[in-house]
Amino acid sequence: MWDPAQYGRYADQRGRPFHDLMARVEACAPSYVVDVGCGSGELTALLARRWPEAMVLGVDSSAEMLAQAPSSMPRLKFTQADARHWRPDRPIDIVVSSATMQWVEGHEQVLRELVGCLAPGGWLALQVPGNFAAPSHVLLREATARWLPGLALRAEPVLDPAGYAELLGAAGCRVDAWETTYLQVLAGPEPVLDWVKGTALRPVLAALPPEHHAGFLAEYGAALRAAYPSGRFGTLFPFRRVFAAAHT
Ligand SMILES: C[S@@+](CC[C@H](N)C(=O)[O-])C[C@H]1O[C@@H](n2cnc3c(N)ncnc32)[C@H](O)[C@@H]1O
Repeated sequence: MWDPAQYGRYADQRGRPFHDLMARVEACAPSYVVDVGCGSGELTALLARRWPEAMVLGVDSSAEMLAQAPSSMPRLKFTQADARHWRPDRPIDIVVSSATMQWVEGHEQVLRELVGCLAPGGWLALQVPGNFAAPSHVLLREATARWLPGLALRAEPVLDPAGYAELLGAAGCRVDAWETTYLQVLAGPEPVLDWVKGTALRPVLAALPPEHHAGFLAEYGAALRAAYPSGRFGTLFPFRRVFAAAHT
């Protein structure tokens, strides 16, 4: 289950890659824009503001996230659906997917199929975290293996920029793919633990019996504090992200 309040605690840092991604999309007057994995929809609403003539649809599988979605714009709609199965009833001018495809099993095929749903000249804009080899995730996989040996966390759920360039190029797109490592400065006594609580830690806590939560969090939290020590000006948390802006 997603917790929009926990996820939204870092809205500024989580929103920045969305802006960087969308800066590379040069569509002028799209009529249909879809945000796949729209979460609570604040960023989706920015798409409706950028393209005032467009119908904008946010698609997400989480009822909790969608319950927070803005409802004030008639051109902005949301629907609850799984990205693996949802497909549009008409060609899309722009598909956006930000910080979602890492959760979608078989996302490479989903991306190919979404490219197939694009109108001529349509765009697919993708952003995924590329930090699965970072200490935050390696330590999470190690702690999970000790506490929940039956839960396998995928070590490499995403491709690198060359992988997306290859995949989307083979699907018939012209592709601009790149990566950026944001040096995030976090505040608070357990900032990295607090960050991952909104995302990567969710499936682990959901599977772990509640009586083990405190012990797990104490062990994983201590490992995170050692890997990301607090400095004079906060805790530095490098965060690599992978981007692709493709058009047909
Ligand atoms: C990290 S949030 C990203 C929200 C927003 N796009 C952003 O950039 O901040 C990931 C979202 O993906 C959604 N999600 C995960 N798996 C999904 C799937 N198979 N189909 C649709 N949405 C999915 C989750 O419900 C969640 O809202």
